[in-house]
Amino acid sequence: MSATDPTGTNLPLLRLEDPDTWHELHGHLAKVRAASPFAVTESGLKMAMRYVDVESVLRSNAFEFGDLIAAVGTTSGTFYNWWHQTISSYNPPDHTRLRRLLGGAFTPKRVNPLRATIEQITDEALNVCLDRGAMDINDFAHVLPMRVMATLLGIPSSEHARYEELTILVGAGFSPATAGNPELSGRVNAAVTELYEYSREVVARKHREPGPDLISALVEERDGADRLTDDEVVNHIIFMLFAGHDTTRGALSIASMLLATHPDQTQLIREDPTRARDAVDEVMRYESTVTFTTRQPLEDVEISGVHLPKGVPVGVCLASAARDTQGMPDAGTFDILRKEKRAISFGSGIHFCLGANLARAEIEIAIRALATRTSGIALDGEPSWHPFKNVRGFDSLPLTLKAS
Ligand code: HEM
Repeated sequence: MSATDPTGTNLPLLRLEDPDTWHELHGHLAKVRAASPFAVTESGLKMAMRYVDVESVLRSNAFEFGDLIAAVGTTSGTFYNWWHQTISSYNPPDHTRLRRLLGGAFTPKRVNPLRATIEQITDEALNVCLDRGAMDINDFAHVLPMRVMATLLGIPSSEHARYEELTILVGAGFSPATAGNPELSGRVNAAVTELYEYSREVVARKHREPGPDLISALVEERDGADRLTDDEVVNHIIFMLFAGHDTTRGALSIASMLLATHPDQTQLIREDPTRARDAVDEVMRYESTVTFTTRQPLEDVEISGVHLPKGVPVGVCLASAARDTQGMPDAGTFDILRKEKRAISFGSGIHFCLGANLARAEIEIAIRALATRTSGIALDGEPSWHPFKNVRGFDSLPLTLKAS
């Protein structure tokens, strides 16, 4: 934190991209939150830090979509244009329509039948790790979401590795480091172009040969006479490949770290595996995968004494809100049995995560398998967080496993 405030409003500075802040994120967020309800980033984005303000901005219809990509410094290109044609960037009534048409694909009725497939994918990945007595992110946390999304979207296994690379590049688009690096932003844009080509081919194929997969469902999903256009389906296939992969792998790597570093909590799941469901809520609360999102006020507003001008994007820090001790004095404790859930990590209000049922199912199955199929999980070296991008996760997380 430094005294420099680009908005001249004396708010504490939040330098998320600074490696020290990023690696000790919650200590820094707590200091900023104690000093002020809002912080400001180096690019001048005012950021709500406290739970009540974050929740109220996300649920308020006095705010609309805010430009998350511009907030990290990218204002043009294929990646930027794609993001602005996805549901996240729309306001009602267009958002309401897209939500209705896309939402059908993610109801519990559609997600529950996938549980057996997710369990099989999880067991296969874990078998290999248990044989070795060790694992890192590339053995487990990073393979499950790609395999699940690929099964859901009908991508053949020979193409998984390529789609993994492409979705990681899309994730990099949400980092300020990309905006300042023409070589990397070129690769991010090329990844989106390649995903467009692939998705268009798949949609054409699903028109000819519909199957029981998610893309066929989206192609056929109707609301009366209304349906998604092919361009809308294509934009959202890319969104789901990215959202279904980058965020979930971050969350799974964080869940693995928390199980290894909190053996008492892992033991609680071994004693009663149904607690894996509660553990998902607590993992998501304690180490929010998505650090912040953005909105912008439709009129000038004041929140907690801070002036927010009409049309100027404002950040809401999900990672900070979930650990705010106001109203939850022990928010800094990882406790899977806690009664109050404070669910904010999948967002809130009209943009609440559409894939939350699916993500929660994947994380719950992985947590249950990791806890119950082992008698011990421990760190085997220093974990390293990947450099700042809005979705949090590890570059390296060496663990030892003892089979139960
Ligand atoms: C642990 C994994 C995940 C996390 C932490 C996460 C988090 C979030 C958050 C915080 C938002 C709200 C953003 C905002 O308000 O600006 C969101 C929106 C969304 N997520 Fe997720 N997500 C996850 C997994 C998924 C998956 C698996 C899918 C789909 C395959 C998905 C699809 C979406 C969609 C479509 C939206 C936009 C909804 C709208 O604008 O109405 N997410 N997600």
